[in-house]
Amino acid sequence: MDTQYTPKDEALYWDQEYKNGRIRWHRDQVHQILVNHYDKLNPGGKHSRVLVTMCGMSEDMNWLVDRGLQVIGIDFAKHALHKFMCLDGQEWTGCPVKELGHDAKLFTRDDGKIKLFYGDVLNLSPEIDGKFDAIYDCSSIHNLPKPKASRMANVLKKILNPGGRILLDAIDYDLKILELEDLNLQAPVPPPYPMNLKDVKELFEPECTVELVETHIETIFCMRETDFNCYLITKK
Ligand SMILES: C[S@@+](CC[C@H](N)C(=O)[O-])C[C@H]1O[C@@H](n2cnc3c(N)ncnc32)[C@H](O)[C@@H]1O
Repeated sequence: MDTQYTPKDEALYWDQEYKNGRIRWHRDQVHQILVNHYDKLNPGGKHSRVLVTMCGMSEDMNWLVDRGLQVIGIDFAKHALHKFMCLDGQEWTGCPVKELGHDAKLFTRDDGKIKLFYGDVLNLSPEIDGKFDAIYDCSSIHNLPKPKASRMANVLKKILNPGGRILLDAIDYDLKILELEDLNLQAPVPPPYPMNLKDVKELFEPECTVELVETHIETIFCMRETDFNCYLITKK
């Protein structure tokens, strides 16, 4: 299997992953890092909304709504968003968002507590839905090759208010393991691309400070125990 696969049509690639149920990153319950570090993302519970980048169909969005926040998710896998809305069982209304892309859409749950943008996160700007004080990026930015990760970091820095925070969880592994013959590849990799503290600092400094808040081990990557690092990024 090609271990250096980079999908040509990334939106289609991700959509197919959801369609075929190859969603090894998805969990049915809230991610423990969000529970552990929510107070750092939203100190004193003072913020009223949170942006969830590359949200997929993450259960974390419901957990954030239960904390009283309005959730604004964005993803370009149609299947993931549709599945999330279907499982949610509530009424949703869709409308086009030309500023985000020619076929981009905004789906709003009728109670207004969740809004889902169908579109490319790289096209996000403050003109589309204002600026944010809290952004949650879980298993997201590490899916982009370095030049795109850098573009995404610039987007996030632009839409983050001064003092605003990003809770970011990303994988770290040695690229050499991709050469191992007994690697249990369930799908071509990368993505995800490994990211360490230095990489995250390169993306977000000097406009932000970057702090490593937790390292945890997951087995979702090639069925191997792999480090994931959770960072708190604060805009100066
Ligand atoms: C590994 S999944 C993680 C999903 C979610 N964060 C979670 O923890 O369940 C990566 C997600 O990033 C989305 N994605 C990748 N590149 C994107 C982009 N440029 N714009 C919007 N979504 C993107 C994919 O569609 C996919 O849902």
